[in-house]
Amino acid sequence: MAQHVFASVEEVLHGLADFFVAQATRAVAARGRFSVALSGGSSPKKLYELLASPAYRQRVPWAQTYFFFGDERNVPATDAQSNYLLAKTALLAPLNIATDHVFAVNTLLPPSAAAAAYTQSIRAFFEGEEAQFDLVLLGLGDNAHTASLFPRTAVLSAITADMQAVFVPEVDGYRLTFTAPLINQARAVAFLVFGADKAAAVRRVLAGERNPEEYPAQLIAPAAGEAAWFLDEAAAAELPR
Ligand code: 6PG
Repeated sequence: MAQHVFASVEEVLHGLADFFVAQATRAVAARGRFSVALSGGSSPKKLYELLASPAYRQRVPWAQTYFFFGDERNVPATDAQSNYLLAKTALLAPLNIATDHVFAVNTLLPPSAAAAAYTQSIRAFFEGEEAQFDLVLLGLGDNAHTASLFPRTAVLSAITADMQAVFVPEVDGYRLTFTAPLINQARAVAFLVFGADKAAAVRRVLAGERNPEEYPAQLIAPAAGEAAWFLDEAAAAELPR
């Protein structure tokens, strides 16, 4: 797992944006399209804004890019907690991305039905072939969760590569999440993690005892793909030098 540590958040964002450009360029050259699963929470907002900015917007083949969501909250698409709304506001709308290139989770359905429907849309996109996203973007919670793979939840033991609904006591609600097997089928996975409040989780995931039940991000190890961490020095501060 490549670890890219930068002095400032701005440099982390540029490092990941350059990685995003490289993955998109490579995918379109090889297969004519780029499939990316976006992450949620607060960290990626600045990344999405940077990708939509004049500095990057011309560097990505957006017309050949297809957007999915690695996880989603069980809220309407208009809710401030929605990962879709975050991406739409910061990236998709500013770039005028065509709606048929964006696969949002239908959170109007009950969680299990929403997950099943999303799994079907993934399978249809990959036309029955193995669902191999070109890039899966991930964050890291201070409890070492990633996507919505939270500690001590049933979805951690999933062996199928799909979207699943899981009740997460920690957030007192349902989440919809890619399973680890689905993430690990990706050609590339990139973690965006910055801030001192993440340092302990980063150490536990990258340098701690093997304990995926407690540190679910340890489940992420793409079988044939590339995994890269984009960190600022504050988030990397507890890693062994
Ligand atoms: C979500 C994310 C989640 C996020 C981490 C970090 O839906 O919340 O997918 O996995 O990446 O919780 O969140 P922050 O970026 O807000 O610290």
